[in-house]
Amino acid sequence: MSAPAATAPYAQIGGDAGVRALVDRFYDLMDLEPAYAALRALHPTTLEGSRDKLYWFLSGWLGGPDLYVERHGHPRLRARHLPFVITRVERDQWLACMQQAMAELGLEGALAQRLAASFFDTADWMRNTPDPAPDHAPDAGRAR
Ligand code: HEM
Repeated sequence: MSAPAATAPYAQIGGDAGVRALVDRFYDLMDLEPAYAALRALHPTTLEGSRDKLYWFLSGWLGGPDLYVERHGHPRLRARHLPFVITRVERDQWLACMQQAMAELGLEGALAQRLAASFFDTADWMRNTPDPAPDHAPDAGRAR
């Protein structure tokens, strides 16, 4: 019998060790890949604290123990991201970095799609700054 559809992603991802592995790969990639430089620049010099916080948060968010809330109370995620300029650029780097981490850990199929959709909704809700103007806006220089 296959697992019921309602199985929490936490179990599907491999529980505590799976969440930790995903977060560690996410931050390793953020450190390594030039494509995520704008995202990396928003973070502290050392990422140990960031790793712990995202791991605690995702544990509960994926349906496992609510480690973040136990330590810090309500996440207030949008408020906690307000000090950082988040446009579509940072949102898309965050999502691409997480997508790459999931793929490298072999997360695929329905679970990966479900997580990607949820990550998109959460990341999009974190945007707090209008997008930068494109270098070559179609109407740049055009008289009004
Ligand atoms: C949209 C693009 C995003 C950017 C640019 C961004 C950036 C950041 C930065 C710079 C920090 C501070 C790191 C630190 O204090 O060590 C942070 C913290 C955090 N982020 Fe994000 N983030 C984004 C999306 C997300 C998403 C989608 C989630 C959850 C699914 C998330 C969860 C968290 C958590 C739990 C913290 C720790 C909050 C705290 O206790 O201070 N972030 N983020």
